[in-house]
Amino acid sequence: MRARRQCVSNTVLGSATGASHLAANLQRVVRALRQAQHVAVLTGAGASAESGIPTFRDKQVGLWERFDAMELATAEAFSRDPALVWGWYEWRRKVVLTAQPNAGHVALVAMAAQKPGLTLITQNVDDLHERAGSSAVLHLHGELARPYCEACHRTYVFPPGIVDVPQEGARIDPPRCVACGARIRPGVVWFGESLPEVPWRQAREAADEADVFLVVGTSALVYPAAALAEFAIAASAMVVQINPNPAELGAGVVTLRGTAGGVLPQLVSG
Ligand code: OAD
Repeated sequence: MRARRQCVSNTVLGSATGASHLAANLQRVVRALRQAQHVAVLTGAGASAESGIPTFRDKQVGLWERFDAMELATAEAFSRDPALVWGWYEWRRKVVLTAQPNAGHVALVAMAAQKPGLTLITQNVDDLHERAGSSAVLHLHGELARPYCEACHRTYVFPPGIVDVPQEGARIDPPRCVACGARIRPGVVWFGESLPEVPWRQAREAADEADVFLVVGTSALVYPAAALAEFAIAASAMVVQINPNPAELGAGVVTLRGTAGGVLPQLVSG
């Protein structure tokens, strides 16, 4: 996983430049969804923002605005200071456990009911899609709820209940593997690591065959996940971006400027 060194642009792509264009684009996307044989959706942190889970790069509130990714989201950082890294991910797990799915998550469940075979791909490490009712979610960047042993890769099962993290930034020693005694590491993909093979292959196939590819709440700066929209464009899909601050995804992308919780329900009821 690697981040593109580029600023997020606020340029509005496609023809959505105002309320009337938004309405026109909404209708266009609703029609395309009705006709589509294959629909795929890629979500990013923005899809969970309305559930109170911070994004990474939004000004002031984004996690990478407040924390150094190189101190927290690399294998080297974990080797250097496991308690700092484990404590940070436990704090994030606590935030997720106390959050609820929002209208955007719920709308994607309804969309999958209308479009059987819809592929839901996420960069998010929370489980809000699943808790809303989505199944077979392809987690490209791992899951907070699935840590594993850094040596033998055995899955670690958390004790039930809310996590005891006294405050943001608390240091907590990671647990040890019951099989080999090595450290348990967070179940997420860090910078410099490869994406899990099976979800990535399935996501790639879904992008290649989609008639409509929705890109929801992502800055599209982190590769290879961001390349999925490019594959879908190359395969002649209608690529639709849903974001209050649209990213530059290339010519021909339809932009619905708005939040996931505001726009996605309109695509389902439309
Ligand atoms: P970013 O924080 O980079 O981008 C979040 C996007 O969501 C931005 O484009 C926002 O404009 C948009 N956004 C904010 N609120 C929204 C809302 N209510 N509805 C819709 N969109 C909204 O997050 P990602 O693109 O997901 O990796 O970041 C990609 C990866 O970088 C993450 O998976 C993470 C990070 O390092 C790992 O944790 C492994």
